[in-house]
Amino acid sequence: MSSTQLSSQESASRPSVIPCFLRGFFENPLQVASFVPSSVYLQRKLSSLACLQTARCVVELGPGTGETTRALLEAMPADSQLLCVEVVSEFVARLQEFADPRVTVVENSALALKSILQQKKFPAPEVIVSGVPFSVMTPEEGRQLIQTIYQVLAPGGAFVTYQFRNNVCELAADCFGTPQSRELVLWNLPPLDVYLWKKAERKTQKRLPTAPLKA
Ligand SMILES: C[S@@+](CC[C@H](N)C(=O)[O-])C[C@H]1O[C@@H](n2cnc3c(N)ncnc32)[C@H](O)[C@@H]1O
Repeated sequence: MSSTQLSSQESASRPSVIPCFLRGFFENPLQVASFVPSSVYLQRKLSSLACLQTARCVVELGPGTGETTRALLEAMPADSQLLCVEVVSEFVARLQEFADPRVTVVENSALALKSILQQKKFPAPEVIVSGVPFSVMTPEEGRQLIQTIYQVLAPGGAFVTYQFRNNVCELAADCFGTPQSRELVLWNLPPLDVYLWKKAERKTQKRLPTAPLKA
């Protein structure tokens, strides 16, 4: 199967994640922000990202029950690694069922990404994909997460996020500028946009404000 064909048969053969996702939503409504996992249309969009095809190290923030994780793995090389960072324990347990040796799951906040990468001895990721909903974070947390993502991303790396609201653009503007692309996924509940930014190569990188980042 090609990387862009996340088959509906494959999805159908897995035990349903909906009850697990619903419980996660009712117990943590602000963090989960959606009562169903992302649609197969979003999964296909993620699988088709060119930046994943050559990436050696990818980070997924807010993987939920792993539907988007599976889409990323479809596109990633066989010898790459994927670090998944998720806060909801029940989702983490589900993610730990992945038999794929490329996957490492950490139960923690995306805000701790810098120290997680250090602890796990991961190299600078070439791609960071985030489903963490910036619209329900405080502006301070949102800016802190963007700064962390910018700092840890490899030069020339890609930051991809799918969001129901567009406040991430304002938060990301200082570090990343305007998105390189923004694509609507209408067939999702609710519809969302997939944004992609590229971090500049080393020579032209931005200097960030000197405020200390929390680990
Ligand atoms: C909109 S759901 C997306 C889930 C999954 N990627 C999908 O598309 O089906 C947002 C996810 O981000 C997780 N999340 C929220 N805040 C987080 C944080 N600070 N660090 C890590 N994960 C977080 C939630 O628990 C949830 O799994």
